[in-house]
Amino acid sequence: MQNHRWLRLAPDAPRRISFGADYNPEQWPREVWDEDVRLMQQAGVDVVSVGIFSWAALQPAADTWEFGWLDEVIDVLHAGGIGVDLATATASPPPWLTAAHPEVLPIAADGHVLWPGGRQHWRATSPIFRRYALDLVERLAQRYGDHPAIVAWHVNNELGCHNAWDYSDDAARAFRAWLITRYGTIQRVNEAWATTFWSQRYGTFDEILPPRTSAAIPNPTQQLDFLRFSSDALKEHLIAEREVLNRLTPDIPVTTNFMLMDGKHHADYADWAQEIDFVSNDHYRMPGERSFDELTFSAALTSGVARGRPWFLMEHSTSAVNWQPVNRPKRPGELVRDSMAHVARGADAVCFFQWRQSKGGAEKYHSAMVPHVGPDSAVYRDVVRLGGLLRDLDEVAGTDRESAPVAVVFDWDSWWGSELGSHPTDRLRYRQLALDWWVALADAGIRADIVPADADFTEYRMLIAPTLYVVSEALRERLDAFVHAGGHLVSTFFSGIVDEDDAVWLGGYPGALRETLGIRVAEFRPLFDGEEVMVDGGVGSMWSEPVDIVADDVEVILSYTDGDLEGRPAVTRRVRGRGSAAYVSSRLSRDALSSLVADLAHRAGIVSELPTTLRGKVDVAARSAGARSYLFVTNRTDESLVLDGIDGDVVLGTRHLEPRGVAVLRR
Ligand code: GAL
Repeated sequence: MQNHRWLRLAPDAPRRISFGADYNPEQWPREVWDEDVRLMQQAGVDVVSVGIFSWAALQPAADTWEFGWLDEVIDVLHAGGIGVDLATATASPPPWLTAAHPEVLPIAADGHVLWPGGRQHWRATSPIFRRYALDLVERLAQRYGDHPAIVAWHVNNELGCHNAWDYSDDAARAFRAWLITRYGTIQRVNEAWATTFWSQRYGTFDEILPPRTSAAIPNPTQQLDFLRFSSDALKEHLIAEREVLNRLTPDIPVTTNFMLMDGKHHADYADWAQEIDFVSNDHYRMPGERSFDELTFSAALTSGVARGRPWFLMEHSTSAVNWQPVNRPKRPGELVRDSMAHVARGADAVCFFQWRQSKGGAEKYHSAMVPHVGPDSAVYRDVVRLGGLLRDLDEVAGTDRESAPVAVVFDWDSWWGSELGSHPTDRLRYRQLALDWWVALADAGIRADIVPADADFTEYRMLIAPTLYVVSEALRERLDAFVHAGGHLVSTFFSGIVDEDDAVWLGGYPGALRETLGIRVAEFRPLFDGEEVMVDGGVGSMWSEPVDIVADDVEVILSYTDGDLEGRPAVTRRVRGRGSAAYVSSRLSRDALSSLVADLAHRAGIVSELPTTLRGKVDVAARSAGARSYLFVTNRTDESLVLDGIDGDVVLGTRHLEPRGVAVLRR
């Protein structure tokens, strides 16, 4: 557990919203560095992440070290008043290393090698990789630990995003050790994995393998444990680097950039967050109708894993990315809006990938702060404008999330578990379902947070826990206690189905939550692609269920109105003392879900803090410290809006919100 430090700033430096980028000067001739610093100063940049992919430049051969260029880069930045978030440079092992030790390369489930040529081609469980990586980290810490430019250490890069799942023999060994720690005995593994099924009973731990490609469906609990293990294996690497850094440079805080969007591993960042001084996150806006709402969702989730404290936006894009099928530039206003939407949910630093757009390599068509065309460009002018706007928000720096009345629960076990194969449907995407509720809350004008499943629920009046598939006895008790204490729980289909061993809670669905909800479901009735069910005032897709009411105090809020389920309850609500427990049995359309969420919130005594004319049209988030409170209001529409009926002094922007505009009010 770390001690929640922020950037190491000079003793007299005031806390501010930091601004900067990944900076890759090794891609450029020396004379460009001076222009870079001049432009950074012009834009108000005060921090850059250096060295993320520099291993080969720092250690061109096993016994050759070249730190001279980095010494000079750090000095040049320091002279320019720019802080350095120094990477440990371990994210892309150089060719000499993988040529000498091909056994550090990850192995896919079907046994094929993932070769070098990209990045992150290393096994988290390889002792050889670990030795080389920690040697590099140690040398960097020794060399730069006393340099006043260093404001933080940046471990590796986006652990869990581009790292492949690794099924190698190293992984097998580490997986067995992980299972011994989790279960103690092989008997306990056999019970947890239900190995009486299909003759899978293990005699010893040595017989266990990662879930490599098999002839038929691999054991689901083995898969779930492998996902948990893979997250832990990467976390172990993070801890190993951090321990070297903490030992040699105890005064420099350590972070690593998470990828809370949707990394390959779905790494359990809520858990990892305990291991670093402050949370950092990277975010790239996805195309589509819910693009901006997905950004605010990711930002709120980051705030949730940071337990409401400020965090560092390590990367986002100034304009187009290069890894979607079709990559469009951002629209006017979006560069500033997107940045501010992260600040609204706790970002105390706004950084981009990257400072100067690369001339060569795989990301040359990815936007940057200084684009190919140069500083005489709309993008760079927006960058300079943003730098100025962030200065207007200095008083917000250091403030925490101001808890909303509602929280959406986001749980990694349920994410992993609900998307395993051989389920009633393979169409379920946990994160999308949570996003559905987030959008519905925004449409209803209700401010909300996102919290991990181990958060203190008592801070909230209403908890929405979409598809909380894995519910342990302990979580079941906490949710039930929340309702008994007067909280309002909203649960949805495919929740409470299994315990932490992926074993079904018997007696009817939704198993662990059945009593709290006062309902019982005998069979799931998932829907085919394009198939819909009618529900009072709306449409459901993907899932439906025959819900039986088994307690006297359950009210039907919405019913199915066609098909086999006509007349059956679709949404129920049980009142328990001052609290309640509602259940939603289908994936409701956007309109239906936003009306429902407004209705459920209203019944829970929660009303939007926005005037009716603005509900759904703006995104709202709040930060506070003591008596100071700031409300961030962002235009979600393409029309101009007037912020009447919201109290507060304008700190940023005006009460006339242009399309994609932002205003910050001090309350
Ligand atoms: C991130 C990565 C950066 C850059 C960026 C481009 O995943 O950390 O190095 O590749 O994506 O969008």
